[in-house]
This record gives sequence, C-alpha cells and structure tokens, in this order.
Amino acid sequence: MFELNETHRMLRKTCRDFAEKELKPVAALLDQKHQYPTEAIKKLGELGMMGIFVPEKWGGAGLDVLSYAIAMEEVSSGCASCGVIMSVNNSLFCDPIVKYGSDDLKKQYVVPFARGEKLGCFALSEPGNGSDAAAAKTTAVKDGDNYVINGTKAWITNGYEADAVIVFATTDAKAGHKGITAFVVPMHSDGLSLGKKEDKLGIRASSTCNLIFEEYRISKKNILGEEGYGFKIAMSTLDGGRIGIAGQALGIAKAAFEAAVAYAKERTAFGQPLVKLQAIQMKIADMALRIESARLLTWQAACLKDRGESYTKVAAMAKLAASETATFVTHQAMQIFGGNGYVTEYPVERHYRDARITEIYEGTSEVQRLVIAQNAMKELM
Ligand code: CAA
Repeated sequence: MFELNETHRMLRKTCRDFAEKELKPVAALLDQKHQYPTEAIKKLGELGMMGIFVPEKWGGAGLDVLSYAIAMEEVSSGCASCGVIMSVNNSLFCDPIVKYGSDDLKKQYVVPFARGEKLGCFALSEPGNGSDAAAAKTTAVKDGDNYVINGTKAWITNGYEADAVIVFATTDAKAGHKGITAFVVPMHSDGLSLGKKEDKLGIRASSTCNLIFEEYRISKKNILGEEGYGFKIAMSTLDGGRIGIAGQALGIAKAAFEAAVAYAKERTAFGQPLVKLQAIQMKIADMALRIESARLLTWQAACLKDRGESYTKVAAMAKLAASETATFVTHQAMQIFGGNGYVTEYPVERHYRDARITEIYEGTSEVQRLVIAQNAMKELM
C-alpha cells in the first residue's frame, strides 16, 4: 500500500478544493475562447504551485516531487490547460536551472518564476524535428563574450505569455548531439519573435507557438551548464517533465471517470440506472483499474526522483501508462454518456480532446516505448 504522509494528504485536499471551486467552473469557457487562465495561474502561484519542488531558497514551495505529481493530477482534473502551464514552468523551466544554473541565473530566472510572478517555457523541438531531438538545426555562433542565435523552435507551450525560455542550439555542428548547448534567455528582446498561436484540438487555454530567433544576441553567462552539454540537459529535464505530464493525464482521466460514474447513476436505460448494467460496470472496472495502476507508476517515478535514484525508465512508463489511460478512460466515458458525451453541454468531449496531447508532447508514446526498452535491456546486461 502506498502511504501518503500528512503533507501530501493536505496538499491533495487543497488542490482538489481549488480545482472544484476555481477551475472546473471556468474550464469550458476558457477552452471555448482559447483564453489564457490569468487569474487561475496567479492563484496557483500564490499557493506555491508554480515552483512546487523548487527549494524555498530559490522562491519555491520546497516540497518533494511526489507532491508535484499529486498537485498536477488534482489541478489538471479541474483544468488540463492550467496543468500544462504549471508543468512546463515547474519541470521544464525551473528544475533544470536549479540543477545546472549558476547562482546568478537562479536569482534572475528561478526566484520570480517559482513564485508565479513570471512564466517560463522550453524550446527544443523545431518545425523539422520532434522525436529526433538531436537533429535540431537552430545555431548559436560565438561572437566575443556573446552568442548569436538563429533558427525556429516549434510547439512552444506558454510561448505567448512566457517571460523567459530555455533554448537549445547547436554551437558545434560537427559534434552531433554533443554540439548542442542550452541557453536561458529573456523572451522580450530584439531578435525573438512569436509565430501564430496554434489552433489546437485540446488544452486550448494554454498557448502554443513557434519562437523565431533572428540574430538574437545573448551573453555566454546565459549558458545553462556547459557548452555542448545541452542534449543531456534536455533529456534529463524531460525525464522529470514526464512525471508532470503523467500527473496531468491522470487528472484528465479522473475527471472523465468521475463525470461518467455520476452520469451513469442518474441516467436510466432499460428501466434502471446505467450503473446497474453489467456492460457499464465492466467499463467502470477497466477505467478504475487503469487509473490506479498508472497512478502507482507515477508516484513510484516521483519517489525515485525524490530519493536521487535513476528514474528515466519508470518516468517513461508512468507517462506512457497515464497518457494511454487518459485516452482510454475519456473514450469509455464518452461511450457511457452516448450522444451527450459528444456535445459541449457536458465536460467529457473536452476531456477527450485534452487527453490526446498527453500521448504526443514531452515524448510520444512511441518514444516512451523506446526509452523503456533501451533502459530495461540495459538493466539485464
Ligand atoms: N538523461 C541524461 N542523458 C541521456 C538521457 C537521459 N534520460 N537519455 C539519453 N542521454 C544521453 C545518452 O547517454 C547519450 O550520451 P553519450 O553520447 O555521451 O553516451 C546521449 O544522450 C544520446 O543518447 P541516445 O543515443 O539515446 O539519443 P538519441 O538521439 O537516440 O535520442 C530519444 C533518443 C529517446 C529518441 C530522444 O531523442 C527523445 O527523448 N526524443 C523525444 C524528445 C521529446 O520528448 N520532445 C518533447 C519536446 S518538449 C515539449 O513537448 C514541450 C512542451 O512545451 C510541453
């Protein structure tokens, strides 16, 4: 039995109440209008959720990664867009700077971001590459104490609202992945412009766009870690990010499951409530089983990270299990709702749309299987 301590249980309740009272009532409208949840993100910042496992010294709540996974699930059950905004700021932006950044970078780029006063984003993919992360074409050419960045980054969550970005660029084209360097750079600067806001299937209250770098100059002091170490920073950062997305997927699945069970209690067919029908109970059992199994893997990955143990494989398993669970559960929930699940009067169609991206970003399900296979085989050697 997985034991949550008192802090975890309290946090879970706080986030659950916040999702019920503040997020669920507005999620459909924000989705419909493609509107960034300014108020909700401000409040999440005040609750410490924008830097939940960032040490207090650097402006965070100083909780553990398990707390992050719990909070991601609860927040995302209310609003999956808020979940991804929070996840990118926590695990793709603040976490690698805490781990690899100088104290100066941490002061400038972690403290206000972990407090929720500013927002970060992460730029790895490009229009020409996604899963093959090492094939990125953006360049950073040294010019005295500066670098000049040129190239286009794609699929940038938080792109429209972010104040800073971690961008990966090639500083030595001959060195393959060992020639990629990570830079932490401000967004509102000459030489950086935004592409159009993508019109997405789901998580529509969060923005996604291209970042276009043209002769963008940045000091060498903004290098994260060392020159040529960017690919490893990207990979280890994504290991942690996958725990966050697993939490988000669980939240989407949980919201759809709860809605489907509530509906099945009220709706009658063949002279009795849907829940009395064995065909519906089979679905409820499969949905509950997958949610609980994926949650155990997610919490296991978080605990491994908290203990400083290797967690690459389990994080990929958690992300794969939870995102496929979200796809399965939202599909089954729509079956239970029937026609009512297909219209915007009920939340299930939104959960169904929101679930889909969790199998794509921060590594597709196919990439997770690669990572799991490679690490599982390594363990046998
Ligand atoms: N941690 C640290 N280092 C790692 C690592 C990890 N988890 N995984 C690999 N590495 C290192 C390897 O040790 C190797 O180093 P050496 O050469 O020194 O031995 C190096 O990285 C290259 O490893 P591979 O040969 O395995 O790399 P590859 O090019 O074959 O790629 C891959 C493997 C798993 C497919 C990887 O490219 C990958 O994860 N792709 C998916 C990328 C992804 O998740 N993109 C999401 C974008 S972000 C996003 O979605 C943002 C958003 O806004 C939500």
